[in-house]
Parts: sequence; structure tokens; C-alpha cells
Amino acid sequence: MNEFTRDQLPSSLRQRHPRIGLVLGSGLGGFIDRISVTGTVAFDDIEGLPVSAVPGHAGRFVFGTIGGVEVVIAQGRVHLYEGWTAREVAAGVRVMAALGIQKLLLTNAAGIVNEGFRPGQWMQITDHLNLTGQSPLTGGPHFVDQTRLYSRSLRQIFRARADDLGLSLAEGVYAWMPGPQYETPAEIRMLRTLGADAVGMSTVPEAIQARALGIEVAGFSCLTNFGAGMTTEALSHEEVMETGQGAAEALARLLEASFLSE
Ligand code: HPA
Repeated sequence: MNEFTRDQLPSSLRQRHPRIGLVLGSGLGGFIDRISVTGTVAFDDIEGLPVSAVPGHAGRFVFGTIGGVEVVIAQGRVHLYEGWTAREVAAGVRVMAALGIQKLLLTNAAGIVNEGFRPGQWMQITDHLNLTGQSPLTGGPHFVDQTRLYSRSLRQIFRARADDLGLSLAEGVYAWMPGPQYETPAEIRMLRTLGADAVGMSTVPEAIQARALGIEVAGFSCLTNFGAGMTTEALSHEEVMETGQGAAEALARLLEASFLSE
């Protein structure tokens, strides 16, 4: 169920053979400065790919190498709250699948739900709660297993490398909320009761789509702020973007160490 094939993609993409795909979340654009870039292709140049109008989400694929491995990085994901369907949100993953990626690493900025976590920390996603009622697989394929959506073996590699580097890496369940508003304090309490550790407005559709295409998936949440009601302060988009910028460097180090050891 992939409308994109290598043959129909622009020649700037057809010549690429990345092994790993990466989707960058809000405020994590600084990650690109930390890797060796070999080219970029604007989402605009690819027919059928939705383009975001949200600040901090310039839509493009960046090609490069991390730890010697060829990667494609999708920068500027689109969200449900801009009016796109879950299937449209996951279109970039289908493009990367057409390019032959075997693994997909999804990143996002997320709010903290677990009271043991702190802003600035990264959390590996172990599982998710889809609370939007939307799926990228509406229309098919149907009944795709979700038991091991997030790869256990990838998680073990990242855990080991994070320990080597002395990086704090939490683990937990990510709740996908539709947004675009942040949650209420009551919603954060509800999410905690439901078993969520972090909350955000992305990542889940791409994870479901990638797995349905046989791609191994890992997810990382940059914990940018406490969930609403956990502190006396109000949430701001600026705070979320700022925390993300500092954390991008830690992620770049972690991925480089992990790919080098592949
Ligand atoms: N809630 C939802 N999405 C988010 C948050 C949050 O607190 N922070 C960053 N993305």
C-alpha cells in the first residue's frame, strides 16, 4: 500500500540509497548541523507529499551520513492538527520506504506525564497510546499486529550506547493526542492513569505506517516541559523549542555512537 515507487520519484531522490530514516521533531533542526550532509530535496519537489506551514518545520529531506551509515532525514513533519489525515501525515515514511530504508528513528518534542522525568531528558518510546481515533492504515492494510511496534533490539543498542556515553535516557509510553492545544491538567492526570509517561502530537502515525511496511522502528521523545498542572507555570511553544535545541546535540552523539557500532 505504497503510492510512491523509486521510479516515479524525482531523479534527485532516485539516486539515493539510505539504509536508515530519521524524522526530526519540533526544535530538533539543530541536529542537522551535527551530521555530514550530502544533499537536500524539498518536500515541494515530490508530488503527493504534504507540506507544513508551521514555524520550525521547513519541509525537506536531508541526506547524509551518521557514523558512516547513509541516512535520510525528514525535517518538517506535518501534523493532524493542520488538517491532514493520519495517512497524509505518514506519506514521508512511504517515500523513505520507497528509497529502501530498513530502520526508522522517529523523534519528537513531548510533555512529561511521568513525575519521575525531567525537562531536557530523552525518553525511548517503548509503546504508545493512540488517543486520536485516527490511523494511517485506514483503507488498508487491515489488522496489522502492533505487539512489538518499537523494536526491542534497537532499544537495547541505544540503551547500551547511552550508558557508555553517560547520557540520561528514560523509557516509557508515548500518548498521541490530536492537539493543537496543549493538554489540560485533568487530561495530564488522565494520561498518567492510562499508563502514559509522555504526551505529544506526532510520531504514532509514522510508527504504525513504517511497521506496516516491514520497517524496524525506534522512537525518541525529547521531554521539553512538564505536562500541564505539574508546575505552576503555563506552557509555551518557545520553551518547547529551546529545550529541544539543547537536546539535539545529545541525540546526535547517541546515534553516531550507535551506528558506528553496527
Ligand atoms: N503536550 C503535548 N505536546 C507537546 C508538549 C506537551 O506538553 N510539549 C511538547 N509537545
